[in-house]
Amino acid sequence: MSTRHFLTLRDLSPSELTRIIERAITLKQERSAGVLHKSLESKVLGMIFEKSSTRTRVSFEAGIAHLGGSGLFLSSNDTQLGRGEPIEDSARVISSMVDIIMIRTFGHDIVEKFAQYSSVPVINALTDEYHPCQLLADIQTYTEHRGSPKGKTVVWIGDGNNMCHSYINAARLCDFHLHIACPKGYEPDQQLIDENQDRITLFNNAKDAIAGADWVVTDTWASMGKEDEKQARIDAFNGFQVNEDLMQLANDDAVFMHCLPAYRGMEINETIMDSPYSVVWDEAENRLHAQKALMEFLLGQLSE
Ligand code: CP
Ligand code: NVA
Repeated sequence: MSTRHFLTLRDLSPSELTRIIERAITLKQERSAGVLHKSLESKVLGMIFEKSSTRTRVSFEAGIAHLGGSGLFLSSNDTQLGRGEPIEDSARVISSMVDIIMIRTFGHDIVEKFAQYSSVPVINALTDEYHPCQLLADIQTYTEHRGSPKGKTVVWIGDGNNMCHSYINAARLCDFHLHIACPKGYEPDQQLIDENQDRITLFNNAKDAIAGADWVVTDTWASMGKEDEKQARIDAFNGFQVNEDLMQLANDDAVFMHCLPAYRGMEINETIMDSPYSVVWDEAENRLHAQKALMEFLLGQLSE
């Protein structure tokens, strides 16, 4: 059987996604009931980080430990990757010693090349273009709170960034419609828009986009690597803050999500994260459960 990777949501079929989400929900319930699993006993997860992280690192490292394996944290500052050893050489060597690898890096081409030369499954733990692991957690969270996302209206407000791109992929996989509201010049990738025209509607203001929303999402205006554009972005994104006044224009049972870290006073106000709309704390916790299910799936431990 060929090695399965998870570089974008497009690597999963709708039924595989459903299996992973159902397993994540079960693992969460069983963990709170004290049920232990050893499905990945003695497996080693290589965790390559070329960018900062709190949730991704903790959820992967705790997740593999819960399943009986162990995580190996590899920062580019402390490995030869940071000194210019080629990706393909690193992929061959690291994958010969561990069972599964996650990478957080800059260009998406880096994880693609790593996967090409890896003999074990590779998971994209965020690139400049995509953040598919976060979407597993977000889909799990919506499913737990409101049921299936199929046919729903999801509204992305803010930068057309890696998270926005992953929401476009999710729209196709989960069969929902995606409204995207972003300032001119900050739209998502044009090719992705063109390929998914039947799934998305673009807006240039948040109030029009949020009408009919079942699920509202935002993210930082300045992603990792864009720090020097911060002030220009604060100016450009004026009017794109998610707050209770905006959420009142959504459907009555709309939920609010944010992948975190969040910047209060910028893309959100001070109170929305702790308002009745918010499911952000469940969303953050679900990174743990969703990625445990993902690792079981990629290692062939998740039965049909
Ligand atoms: N949401 C997310 O990926 O958070 P970290 O950057 O803390 O991993
Ligand atoms: N879009 C953000 C997500 C952080 C988890 C970034 O890339 O920095």
